Amino acid sequence: MDVLVVQHPLAQTRLTALRDSRTDSANFRAALHELTTMLAYEAARTFEAATFPVHTPVAVAKGTRLSNPPLIVPVLRAGLGMADATLALLPESSMGFVGLARDEKTFEPRPYMESLPDDLSTRPVLVLDPMVATGGSLEHCCRLLSARGCVDMTVLCALTTPEAIRRLEQSGLPLKLVTASIDDGLNESMFITPGLGDAGDRQFGAYAPHFE
Ligand code: PRP
Repeated sequence: MDVLVVQHPLAQTRLTALRDSRTDSANFRAALHELTTMLAYEAARTFEAATFPVHTPVAVAKGTRLSNPPLIVPVLRAGLGMADATLALLPESSMGFVGLARDEKTFEPRPYMESLPDDLSTRPVLVLDPMVATGGSLEHCCRLLSARGCVDMTVLCALTTPEAIRRLEQSGLPLKLVTASIDDGLNESMFITPGLGDAGDRQFGAYAPHFE
């Protein structure tokens, strides 16, 4: 699997703000927005582009446009905080949604929402989720995309773990991962350590979906 860790110091300062337990919700959302811009910029480096003539006030120049803008898929809830920044950078894109909540006891993803085009065989997809911990939620989301024919998936996350990377490599999914950090691993509650806590709760308050 193609994994890119964005080491740029400006990306790392935003990741530091996300990690800091003193960062309040407003500043957490701002740091996630800014970090996402940098992750999306790096991810878009390999996007196919076409050229066309553009008329400046002086002469004709070579213009550039994306040949095939991606579908952007934030994983609810936490991925919503990465959606605006990605769409701002890729305004020609459209957006789908997947809602997942990790069961607190089994740590398995529980799907509660899905809004995706039927056919993704010709479209690249950018999946957004700040945290890829065990990789279970991301694998579930990417299998939904794969079932619609998607063969080009790029995941943007603030941080991930060696465990998730192993799992995703073994999944055989056609994935690329762009992240600001591969952290040490998982604790007994399957939280990323040192991590940043729960990105959904830190953005929106502690109202994650609960299941019986
Ligand atoms: C978090 C996170 C990922 C998932 C990661 O979401 O945003 O979606 O957990 O865990 P995994 O890699 O072990 O599956 P959560 O389920 O807490 O829901 P939320 O986005 O509503 O907070």
